Amino acid sequence: MRSEEIRESFLQYFRQRGHRIVESSPLIPQDDPTLLFANAGMNQFKGILLGKEERVFKRAASCQKCLRASGKHNDLEEVGGDGFHHTFFEMLGNWSFGDYYKEEAIGYAWDYSTRILGLPPQRLWVSVYQDDEESYRIWREVIDIPEERIARLGKKENFWMMGELGPCGPCSEIYYDFKPETGEGFNPDSGRFSEIWNLVFIQFSREESGKLSPLPFKSVDTGMGLERVAAVTQGVGSNYETDLFHPLMDWLREISPDGDLYSQRVISDHIRALSFSIAEGVILSNEGRGYVIRRILRRAARYGRLLGLREPFLYKLSSPVVDLMGGVYSELVAKREHIALVIKAEEERFGETLDLGMELFSRVAQRVKGQGGKMVSGQDAFKLYDTYGFPLDLIQVMAKDEGLEVDLEGFSSLMEAQRDKARKAAKFGLGMQVSLGKIPTTKFLGYNTLQAEGKIVWLKRDGESLELALDRTPFYAEQGGQVGDRGEISAPGLKIRVDNTIRRDEATIHLGRLVVGQPREGMEVIAQVDESRRKGMERSHTATHLLQAALRRVLGEHIHQSGSLVEPDRLRFDFTHFKGLNPEEIQAVESLINEKIREDLKVDTYLSPLQEAKAQGAIALFGEKYGEKVRVVRIGDLSLELCGGTHLQSTARIGYFRLDKEEGIAAGVRRIEARVGEKACRLAMEEGELLGRLSQLLKSEPADLEERIRRLLQERAALEKEAQRLRCLSYCQLVEGMVKRATVMNGIKVVREKVEVGSREELLQMGDALRGELGSGVGLLGTVLGDKPALLLLVTRDLVSERGFKAGELIGKVATLMGGRGGGSPHLAQAGGGDVKKLDEVLEGLPSILEGYL
Ligand code: ALA
Repeated sequence: MRSEEIRESFLQYFRQRGHRIVESSPLIPQDDPTLLFANAGMNQFKGILLGKEERVFKRAASCQKCLRASGKHNDLEEVGGDGFHHTFFEMLGNWSFGDYYKEEAIGYAWDYSTRILGLPPQRLWVSVYQDDEESYRIWREVIDIPEERIARLGKKENFWMMGELGPCGPCSEIYYDFKPETGEGFNPDSGRFSEIWNLVFIQFSREESGKLSPLPFKSVDTGMGLERVAAVTQGVGSNYETDLFHPLMDWLREISPDGDLYSQRVISDHIRALSFSIAEGVILSNEGRGYVIRRILRRAARYGRLLGLREPFLYKLSSPVVDLMGGVYSELVAKREHIALVIKAEEERFGETLDLGMELFSRVAQRVKGQGGKMVSGQDAFKLYDTYGFPLDLIQVMAKDEGLEVDLEGFSSLMEAQRDKARKAAKFGLGMQVSLGKIPTTKFLGYNTLQAEGKIVWLKRDGESLELALDRTPFYAEQGGQVGDRGEISAPGLKIRVDNTIRRDEATIHLGRLVVGQPREGMEVIAQVDESRRKGMERSHTATHLLQAALRRVLGEHIHQSGSLVEPDRLRFDFTHFKGLNPEEIQAVESLINEKIREDLKVDTYLSPLQEAKAQGAIALFGEKYGEKVRVVRIGDLSLELCGGTHLQSTARIGYFRLDKEEGIAAGVRRIEARVGEKACRLAMEEGELLGRLSQLLKSEPADLEERIRRLLQERAALEKEAQRLRCLSYCQLVEGMVKRATVMNGIKVVREKVEVGSREELLQMGDALRGELGSGVGLLGTVLGDKPALLLLVTRDLVSERGFKAGELIGKVATLMGGRGGGSPHLAQAGGGDVKKLDEVLEGLPSILEGYL
């Protein structure tokens, strides 16, 4: 079966059995701070499984994009070693939310595998959790699998958890046997078996304490790896030989015919992970998601070197990925150019240090082995990491290839020391961010009020510097690009100036200075936000949403926010786009925003279940954390975004929007800076004043200024031309005199003159005039430029070709007379430097030097 047929038939099978077919959620989870990337089909149902989100349907099925390269489920190191592991893969799954349970789940899985996929039952083995008698019984008695093909396995294999926290339960797995003829027993790690389907019976939620709390209802969560099923049904021994990888592997085999299979697999795996994640807006960086993806890219680049590929090549392989998968995942098609651009830029960047790093490493490895050691020191590893940008796991792979290990402890302590340094260098507030124990959750009141009473529930004091948390506060903590509030916290006899507000987990921390009094935990206070600053922020924030909507209208739907900064009346917005905006586009964006400001669109904010908001097409901000219920900000019919920030009630209050600057900040990422409200008005006013001053200066109306300046520039050009003509005329007269005064040596005219010119350029022009007048001869012009002597020596062509004179050589000798230096061609040479007082001597000295040549 082709992979499309598998996807289709799976979804159809479950649709026919009452399952709602749900789209894959993005690879970048928009609503789960515990996850960097989607790692299973159940992620998007987490809230439902935990009983926290309403169940609109009780059965679902999907084909989910997953990336397992970080966190609890991380297969990065396994990739390439066998044919069955991936970073990026597609997971087919079906779910029951408190509806059917083990018997139906097992029945469906068996029926679909044997009847629809047509897998021979005798090739299928199953495992159950050691204590799960019910599943054992179903497999044995209902499905009738022989006892010897059912394995009871422990927690490691058969108890599935999404992460350290969240839904979990015992599971039962179906394995495909590639080599039944060996006749041996079950060994899931032997390479003879491929685990194709995992059926999880979700019953618990794992709490922070490690406790498993039973859930209000039991659910089924299954996952089947599409690539593995494709390998089995297509009768190939490895996922990399299926139609999902074939074109990629062929491409690699073509450009590296003698390359090793391991590297080719790694690269064809990694390019899929890169293409999909970059299509969703991941930006390569040194932390979080961006670092996971950067690591994957750098690993792939290093394996490329092992295949002998020295030039950037990965970016070329991204287009075949788009061709292969774009039919199912249209986001790839929309971002084809962007993906290639981002990958290429990073390849170029890393390529420069890759060779150096690999060379350094091989020297280190030789040294270690030469000394009979087994361990690459933390220091060597850290240097590769810090100076050459090698990800740690890549260093470990390289060490392993040499039979060595990396001193991880040494590495970590250097890493920690570096972080420490950075922390100390950080500004006030961040410097104290070391673990301080749990701070109580803060209730945020600041959407509706800027002043409120609260109680101090947590306090940290360092001289006059304070960090404090209240049980409730109107202060907005820096988040989603919007900077933190400032203001004042007070009580009778107490005054605290708040300079910034930040979030720590669920708490809002006010950072500030004690002005007067003695704050204590338990104290009742009044918290007052600086109102005008907050209003400025709201103008910027609402304007940022307008900007994103306008960019999407003008440039296209591929625009995604990749970062933003919302300050009082000033904003910065980073977004994905592959080329700079032209003046028409900039103007269109600016006008559209101002038009929407004048239309005074209403800004509505409301809470909504995440799925519903998404179904309405709300844009989620990249990297933002959302709860089960999300806050939606709607601006008329123009913009719908998930956003926790504070906003105006209608757009007119923005007042005015001015785009300040548009520039590229990374491959495929643009940045716009803009001003709104008072700052935008002030800018316009300042520009007006400047125009006024210019008009006065040029004695012209502002509207005529451009024409006036154009005319002035034209006049200037004409004057310059005229000056040049006059100079030539006067040079002609001058050189006539010079030639008349020339000495004649052996029939050769020799001119030696001290002249006055304003620049080297003029000296050369005069030289040209002299050459024309001279006809045949040698000319030496001396002048003073600034306070330095300058010489020009010319020899007419006939003397060069017939008498072998060389100006460049002559001038060297002449210049030494004043202690200067010079050089040039046989026809023309210049010299400078030395003693300006010797200029006359130099001119006098020419004949005796020439004599040597005659
Ligand atoms: N959530 C289960 C898994 O990922 C099905 O294996």
